[in-house]
Amino acid sequence: MPFDSRLTPVLSAVACAALLFGAHAVSGQTESTDSDAAEATVPFALPKSGPFNPADIEIKNDQSITDWFRSAHADAAAEAFRHWDGEEEINSACATCHSGEGFRDYHGLDGTAAGSVEGPINTGGVVDCGTCHNAGLSEVTEVAFPSGLMHPVQGVEASCMTCHQGRTAGITVSKALGDLELDTPNPELRFINPHYATAAATWLGAYGGSGYHYEGKEYSGRFFHARPVSSCVSCHEPHTLEVAFEPCLTCHQANTPEEIRIARQSYDGSGDTTKGIRSDIQANAAMLLDMVKTYASDVAGAPMIYDGTRYPYFFSDANGDGVADQNEGRPVTYGAWTPRSLRAAYNWKLVTADPGNFAHNPPYMLELLYDTIEDLSEPLGVSMESLNLLR
Ligand code: HEC
Ligand code: HEC
Ligand code: HEC
Ligand code: HEC
Ligand code: HEC
Repeated sequence: MPFDSRLTPVLSAVACAALLFGAHAVSGQTESTDSDAAEATVPFALPKSGPFNPADIEIKNDQSITDWFRSAHADAAAEAFRHWDGEEEINSACATCHSGEGFRDYHGLDGTAAGSVEGPINTGGVVDCGTCHNAGLSEVTEVAFPSGLMHPVQGVEASCMTCHQGRTAGITVSKALGDLELDTPNPELRFINPHYATAAATWLGAYGGSGYHYEGKEYSGRFFHARPVSSCVSCHEPHTLEVAFEPCLTCHQANTPEEIRIARQSYDGSGDTTKGIRSDIQANAAMLLDMVKTYASDVAGAPMIYDGTRYPYFFSDANGDGVADQNEGRPVTYGAWTPRSLRAAYNWKLVTADPGNFAHNPPYMLELLYDTIEDLSEPLGVSMESLNLLR
């Protein structure tokens, strides 16, 4: 090898990216020259003649690789990528979002049918370069959501919208509830988990249909924000995934995204409008979880606890000591859901499954929380006026 061996992984990543992009995009050249054609067949970032000094070799997409490598998308040790380690392959119901290979299969970018994962998909994949840098992605013009919505997309949006949409919709909940008696516990009912990092579902609001919508209520649609904020990558750097804060300051006055507020009213009954809108959402979400628990013990007659570190999160606590009941060393899954508590817990989990909810769609989040609190207030005998919330 004519160069420092420490460079080899970087160069092979470059070579790999070059193959995925086509050499034109990687080399950053705009003019078409004969050497371009040569580069297309030899996609290395090597200089054309010696002496070969690694420090002088310019790697044009070095920064992208470094940024991506430190991001959650590249974190091969994360549960989101290791969950299937003990299995032969990644289940086709999960592969679309938990591996670049599965994503390409789902969208038919690997030559198989679009809209389904044919598999088998190897374990150990991450959200690799070819997930977003893929010529075929420009032909993906719509993305299916769990509500059945086909949402039109352009370019890289197709990628974010596919994986950050969650796995359920309001209709998943209404179908499970059917015409069951609202306040009667039913052991057949199981908690419905919207899944994680559901930013795209939040962003599309009622139009995306992710929340459980109460009868007779109207809900805000997609959060259009303001130009030029128009898609996920308007705010998130696509490789680090971080939100650059300076651009927000053209329109907002705050020290952090969490402190941003436009609303002049208080939604959480505190009357405090100096805090970010995030704190109203958090306060109402906390109130809702408390009410779900009170309802479980006082109305359904079966106390529960919530443990965010353990699926399926809601466990039975018959003696009300704040610790999950155990059965053969395992916590007992909560089994006394009523239609009312199940839809409430679903909306609560949906709102809190998106840590960026305050930036992705505050009106929709606040509406879901208000209506769910209102629905529980009735059997709990709590007056909505006394809570002083705004919708
Ligand atoms: C629509 C896309 C999508 C599908 C389909 C999907 N997931 Fe996920 N999943 C995600 C995303 C996005 C995250 C990342 C959340 C985070 O950690 O920020 C995630 C996270 C996870 C995690 C980590 C949760 C944690 O607490 O760290 C597990 C486990 C998981 N998914 C299991 C599954 C299983 C099992 C399936 C199939 C039955 C599945 N997922 C299907 C998108 C999906
Ligand atoms: C989650 C999607 C995603 C992944 C994964 C991803 N990229 Fe990108 N990349 C983008 C987007 C979107 C842009 C366009 C950025 C813009 O327009 O400002 C981009 C731009 C680039 C550019 C142009 C320079 C720049 O930063 O704007 C290079 C080079 C690049 N990516 C290389 C890579 C490499 C190499 C990998 C894997 C190590 C990778 N990308 C992984 C989405 C992604
Ligand atoms: C193939 C599916 C997939 C695609 C495409 C994808 N993501 Fe992700 N994303 C994930 C998974 C899975 C995680 C969680 C990874 C982990 O836990 O390490 C994640 C994590 C994130 C996080 C950080 C969450 C955290 O816990 O820190 C952000 C922000 C994010 N993605 C934004 C985006 C944006 C913006 C796009 C489009 C440019 C995009 N993602 C495209 C699957 C995807
Ligand atoms: C208006 C700017 C904005 C837009 C547009 C936006 N986000 Fe976010 N997003 C944020 C902020 C602010 C956070 C809070 C966390 C932070 O500051 O990094 C966040 C958080 C997230 C997280 C959770 C990160 C974590 O730490 O767990 C994910 C995942 C995410 N966004 C994905 C997306 C996707 C996918 C889209 C497009 C559908 C999108 N975002 C659109 C600003 C935005
Ligand atoms: C071009 C101007 C502009 C830029 C840039 C901008 N915003 Fe906004 N933002 C707005 C406007 C206008 C609203 C009100 C939109 C509405 O309610 O329909 C808003 C609303 C918000 C809200 C909800 C506030 C509330 O009280 O409901 C949050 C949070 C937010 N923006 C975060 C961000 C973040 C984070 C960034 C930077 C990544 C950003 N914005 C960049 C104009 C902008």
